[in-house]
Amino acid sequence: MNTQHYIAGRWQPAQDERCFEVRNPADDSLVAQVSEGGAADARLAVDAAALALPAWKARPPRERCLILKKWQALIERDVEPLAQLISREQGKPLAEARGEIAYSAGYVEWFAEEGVRANGEVIAAPVTSKRFIVLKEAVGVVAVVTPWNFPAAMIARKIAPALAAGCTVLAKPAEDTPLTALALVKLAEEAGVPPGVLNIVSASREHTPQVVGEWLADPRVRKISFTGSTPVGKLLARDSAATLKKLSLELGGNAPFIVFEDADLDAAVEGLMAAKFRNGGQTCVSPNRVYVHTAVHDRFVDKLAARVGALKVGPADWPEAEIGPMINARAVDKIERHVNDAVAKGAKVVVGGRRVRNETARGPNYYAPTVLINATRAMELSCEETFGPVVPIFRFANEAEVMEQANDTPYGLAGYFYSNDVKRIWRVASALETGMVGINEGAIAAQAAPFGGVKESGYGREGSHWGLDEYLHTKYLCQGGLG
Ligand code: SIN
Repeated sequence: MNTQHYIAGRWQPAQDERCFEVRNPADDSLVAQVSEGGAADARLAVDAAALALPAWKARPPRERCLILKKWQALIERDVEPLAQLISREQGKPLAEARGEIAYSAGYVEWFAEEGVRANGEVIAAPVTSKRFIVLKEAVGVVAVVTPWNFPAAMIARKIAPALAAGCTVLAKPAEDTPLTALALVKLAEEAGVPPGVLNIVSASREHTPQVVGEWLADPRVRKISFTGSTPVGKLLARDSAATLKKLSLELGGNAPFIVFEDADLDAAVEGLMAAKFRNGGQTCVSPNRVYVHTAVHDRFVDKLAARVGALKVGPADWPEAEIGPMINARAVDKIERHVNDAVAKGAKVVVGGRRVRNETARGPNYYAPTVLINATRAMELSCEETFGPVVPIFRFANEAEVMEQANDTPYGLAGYFYSNDVKRIWRVASALETGMVGINEGAIAAQAAPFGGVKESGYGREGSHWGLDEYLHTKYLCQGGLG
């Protein structure tokens, strides 16, 4: 297990030799002591990345592609140990962790292949004496700050396009899950990423502001890519303003999931199960508010309750586990607060609605998959992401009413709806104020597709060719004197 920082091609302890603890959310046992970053470590990382930038940027894209392909192959070789590591520090069931590693390798492959197509353009000039040429150039040193819910995939989705574009990287993984990120960086080293091109500094919650603060203040850092909460995204936008860094912010969501009266109810239940219970509901694109037309409400709730009630809750290494522990005690407290608030305001628990502690799920962080009916706008869970396995169902009577409710949020990451009416499909898809829309589909994320939000869910896109563009500048050359 790699537990130290990787800076300038060297695994090294923190400058002040401090460490912080990483604990298994299943039972709170100690997984490892990891180097605790501070401002001095962060500065060393910028020095290394700035030094390595000119040579990496100048390498032919094909060479960068081959190194990334090697990284992909090593990640695929190590699926099992990497999945075990994710499960230990993050808690998701092993089968899901294996899926996350495949998903991560897919991002590395996608950007390896996309990086060789970072083409510019020749523009038809308005006069014969000039030529207009557009080049795509690496942004420079970039800092990526990643969350705990997908400890491998978010690292891959940010680092791969940055490296493919010719940028050098500073990474700060989430305090709860640094070990997977450190293991991926170790594989990148083995793949031949040169010293200084990729640097990683881990830090606890308390020390993170020192590390990220140093990067925000340093004019050599030209871009920040962050996935996490909206309040932190706003702080990054504010604090990077002094040096006007380019930003990609993938922030909180409050996804609506609408089941119209003409929907295929079985498909809608399956779509909701896939979207809601992935990673125990700890996903930014998880449906947070489920609107069901009154004509199909009771049938939908019965079908859903049967599926949710059968979900198995337990630790990641239990082969039957479908829902693991939540990431920490604060997460379970929040879920409990949302459910209690909803019940106090008139919601009815159909399934779940309580913590789980039994022979299989022994630790304190398990919450039962839950279905609530009679949800209303007055409840906390309608305005705030629950980030857990809770499905609140709101009843609606017509399309205009549900669209108004669905968009009544400052967030705009993902939205989903089920309908078989083609005119409604186009109407609702365009009316939803979100960056991504699942139409009769609950699994929307893919390497080839642009992932990102609107409104206070942030800006910038990950995946697809737009995901590469986030790490490139557009440089215009005007050659004169030709006429
Ligand atoms: C996220 O929750 O931020 C990412 C989820 C995904 O890639 O589907």
